[in-house]
Amino acid sequence: MSFRPADRPRIHREVVSYVRRSARMNPSQERAWNGHADRLVVAVPRGERSTSIRADAAVDWSAVFGRAAPLMVEIGSGRGEALAALARAHPDANVVGFEVFQPAAASTLSLLAREGIGNVRLVLADGVQGLSKLVAPGTLAQLWVFFPDPWHKARHHKRRLIEPGFAALATSRLALGAHWRLATDWEEYALAMREVLDATPGLANAEGGWAPRYAERPVTKYEARGLAAGRTVYDLDYVRSPTSAQSDLVVRTPLPEPDGEESW
Ligand SMILES: C[S@@+](CC[C@H](N)C(=O)[O-])C[C@H]1O[C@@H](n2cnc3c(N)ncnc32)[C@H](O)[C@@H]1O
Repeated sequence: MSFRPADRPRIHREVVSYVRRSARMNPSQERAWNGHADRLVVAVPRGERSTSIRADAAVDWSAVFGRAAPLMVEIGSGRGEALAALARAHPDANVVGFEVFQPAAASTLSLLAREGIGNVRLVLADGVQGLSKLVAPGTLAQLWVFFPDPWHKARHHKRRLIEPGFAALATSRLALGAHWRLATDWEEYALAMREVLDATPGLANAEGGWAPRYAERPVTKYEARGLAAGRTVYDLDYVRSPTSAQSDLVVRTPLPEPDGEESW
């Protein structure tokens, strides 16, 4: 079953939030992938691209995890440092990471196996499509987006993950009262996120401004690099609040993936 028009409003996203990169894994990543992907990576039917998901794809998360439990999602989980910590902090949740870059996903598998974390699954695909096609409206118990690629050049801002269409999609997937937590070390993107999210119907800024650091979020290597470069980290915390018309939410979907340089 996939989620059709009333639940999945129409789309017009022209670019995706990442670029195609060499997905060559190092030997230890290959070992991790070969050893754990069968168990921990959820295979989804592909769309036209290696990172897209077919329109009629569906996943029964309770069946995947072998239990019914609150569903928590991270988009752009990178090497999985936050995903692992958050899963440990929420042992009673089913935790899903969407990541497009296979070597990073393989490093996540290695971490999960090393730490014996059993309540995480990965999907190697675009998290925008993942939310749209694989997560039922109103069902997410938490959503995390930490350090999304900042795309700091003005001509690349259109690639940023946090934009009004994605914000509407993500909001539609949250259960009432569920939190969407974000962080970035790029001040101008932080301000842009505030502008988008503060204006999104059905989202309330939990702190009325910047949020204190989310205590369960570890310092990832990526964040450490930002701190070492003297950047300030901004946390944001939004809550799904009642809205009159879910159909007001405008959702976007990615079109073909362009070639380009690595994003991180
Ligand atoms: C800057 S890194 C941050 C990684 C991690 N969140 C951290 O804090 O260390 C951004 C990650 O998001 C991934 N990414 C970007 N757009 C994505 C999308 N639409 N769906 C899934 N992953 C995405 C990239 O491949 C990359 O691993």
